[in-house]
Amino acid sequence: MNAPTTIDGGMIGRPTPRIDGRLKVTGTACYPSDYSLEDTAYAYLVTSAIARGRISAFHLEEAQGVEGVLDILTYENTKGKVRKVRAFSGGGYTSTTIMPMDSPKIWHDGQIVAVVVAETYEAAREAAHRIHVEYDERKPKSGFDKRRPQPRQISNPLSSSDPKTGDAEGAFREAEVRVEAYYTTPTQHHNPIELFTTTCAWSGDRLTIYEPSQFVHGLKNGVAKQLNMDPEKVRVISPFVGGAFGAKAALTPRTAFIALAAKRLNRPVKLVATRSQGFDVSTYRAETQHLVKLGADRNGRLTSLYHEGWEVSSRPDNYKVAGTETTSLLYGCPNIYTKVNIVHADRNTPGFMRSPAEVPYVYALESAIDELAVALGMDPVELRRINDTMVNPIDQKPYSSRSLMTCYDQASEAFGWSKRSPEPGSMQDGDWLIGWGCATACYPSNVSPAEARVTLAPNGRARVQTAGHDIGTGAYTAIALTAADRLGIPLEDVSVELGDSSLPPAPVAGGSNATASICNAVAMACDEIRDRLAQGAVHSDGALRDCDPATLSLSAGKLVAPHGKRETLREAITRLGFGPVEAHSKYTPEIASTAIKLMGNKLIEKGISAMASGSSAGDHVQYAFGAEFVEVRIHKRTREIRVPRLVGAFAAGRIVSPTTARSQLLGGLIWGVASALHEATEIDERVARYVNDDLAEYLIPVCADIKDVEVIFVPEEDHQVNALGIKGLGELGNVGTNAAVANAVYHATGRRIRDLPIRIEDLL
Ligand code: MOS
Repeated sequence: MNAPTTIDGGMIGRPTPRIDGRLKVTGTACYPSDYSLEDTAYAYLVTSAIARGRISAFHLEEAQGVEGVLDILTYENTKGKVRKVRAFSGGGYTSTTIMPMDSPKIWHDGQIVAVVVAETYEAAREAAHRIHVEYDERKPKSGFDKRRPQPRQISNPLSSSDPKTGDAEGAFREAEVRVEAYYTTPTQHHNPIELFTTTCAWSGDRLTIYEPSQFVHGLKNGVAKQLNMDPEKVRVISPFVGGAFGAKAALTPRTAFIALAAKRLNRPVKLVATRSQGFDVSTYRAETQHLVKLGADRNGRLTSLYHEGWEVSSRPDNYKVAGTETTSLLYGCPNIYTKVNIVHADRNTPGFMRSPAEVPYVYALESAIDELAVALGMDPVELRRINDTMVNPIDQKPYSSRSLMTCYDQASEAFGWSKRSPEPGSMQDGDWLIGWGCATACYPSNVSPAEARVTLAPNGRARVQTAGHDIGTGAYTAIALTAADRLGIPLEDVSVELGDSSLPPAPVAGGSNATASICNAVAMACDEIRDRLAQGAVHSDGALRDCDPATLSLSAGKLVAPHGKRETLREAITRLGFGPVEAHSKYTPEIASTAIKLMGNKLIEKGISAMASGSSAGDHVQYAFGAEFVEVRIHKRTREIRVPRLVGAFAAGRIVSPTTARSQLLGGLIWGVASALHEATEIDERVARYVNDDLAEYLIPVCADIKDVEVIFVPEEDHQVNALGIKGLGELGNVGTNAAVANAVYHATGRRIRDLPIRIEDLL
């Protein structure tokens, strides 16, 4: 069995500051964008000024005359040099199948049409602005049609199905209490502090890429495929990432062209896409629409659940998040119908953004559940209790564990929910209307194959190496805690190396699967070290000779037998040979399909996602849950909306690193407030262009918008999710929070706002 044995506490679960904190606050942590290579030339992107049509002519003369300009790439000299590869969502590498600079065709506004390379960034930028492009422009479609419902279009038959059971339409017609409503969520864009940069350097036929990445093995293999190279000749370096919530997971079109530019000049080339260009050359969360119909009996028991979603994608890609996989299994109901439609538009291909599926889809369902509670005259927590389920209602597969109602109990207690007066507008404080709302958070517990190399030196110091990623999540810390725990050494004696494709393969830092996947791999390698030390010790003439090796453990820097006999690590390690003892583990998730079990580590090595999904985990489903409570205050005259209080209680299996896990959940809750009240990319519909494409006008909450945020960990043991019992929680905290805020706004004002974000003008 390739899984670690059960652990008995120790360092796992110990609150500790992030081990890379000092490096970060002192500016010593080297982010990919920080690498400074000798003789670097600088690239600047020229992007399309139209959303649909063709380039009819380039005028490069003026740009070529700018002092310091070295090269200009356009489709005329790059055509056919970068091969098209499959999209990540289809088992490939790229965020989009749109291949810029391969033809004169324009698929979306902001598409890369040229790359200028110069001696300095300033010269490249100057020249880029002096390139004149002529276009044959056609009128673009910017997104959804105006009508509701949108056209019902076949969703991609290759990806997830639309879960259904029973007769939802019939049961809805006969239901005693009914709710039917449309909900919409806006376009949202990633705005990581570390921009979408790429530096490429060749040494002979070997390519090194410095790029902030959530999946260095994916980037490595994807670029190798695009450039028709042996992947072993490509290395990706990304030890720290300055913000990544999905946009740095799959390969974006820029990278291969920067590699090409570096090859043409035979010197390193560095690209810094501007904040504004990042809106077009990377991915984003597309706008969604939802039709939700709920039917219930008078006691609040759901009899019908209908959830149809519409999502925008680009012309050529069928990207969709399809959140009905989650909304169909959240509550018990005998009749369920779901469907997901894609509406194609002249836009760049959307992609992952933190809880891609759940943030929009659970918003719609959790808003509708609140509307149903109002229609029933029932407390919304009680309504969820009545419909709580321990099985997936679609196929009756049990949850491995589900602590949703315990989360509700603990969060509502901490929040003081029992003091809520249910009538909208009935709670006031001077000039302020007070609203209290709640919603469910959930996220599938996904796990991937992962590998790790652990070495333990005679001086008791350990080194952990794996090509995982710390995108600010605390991965370094969680991994170090796991190794310290299993090797019985202090945390300070563990060093962790991540974010380099020359390290043992590890999965994408996405789908909240990193901690579960990598920590299980690390624990296995540590256990192998323990086994080898134990075998050596019992077959020696040392203190542990003739002990049962299975009973020996690593603890407090010693190899220890239950009856107190022990020897030092130095004795145990030097016995095995010269230098440190090393183990290389290959973890395969217990819940993985047979195909992944057979192929898993090979897939990860090839940079292909082999994530075993928590929503289809063999004979059960595995999800993490939470309950979120929000207080809003709305000014009676100005309608200013404030969120003074957020309380979330979360059950996510074993918490490896409570300090950084708490930080993840805080960040998630805060992003949920942003989703409800702030974030939206405005689109100029005439030209299908993002308008507020900078941090000045793309609204996110600032410190003054967020006051008390409380995170409660609900203890949960789950031995089915994976050997260490980790469910993962990177995305959990920002699921449902938008609905909780919207529900609180209804409670404060009696106004049900179904289109996010909720703004002052919606409440006038
Ligand atoms: Mo996350 S959206 O799975 O990077």
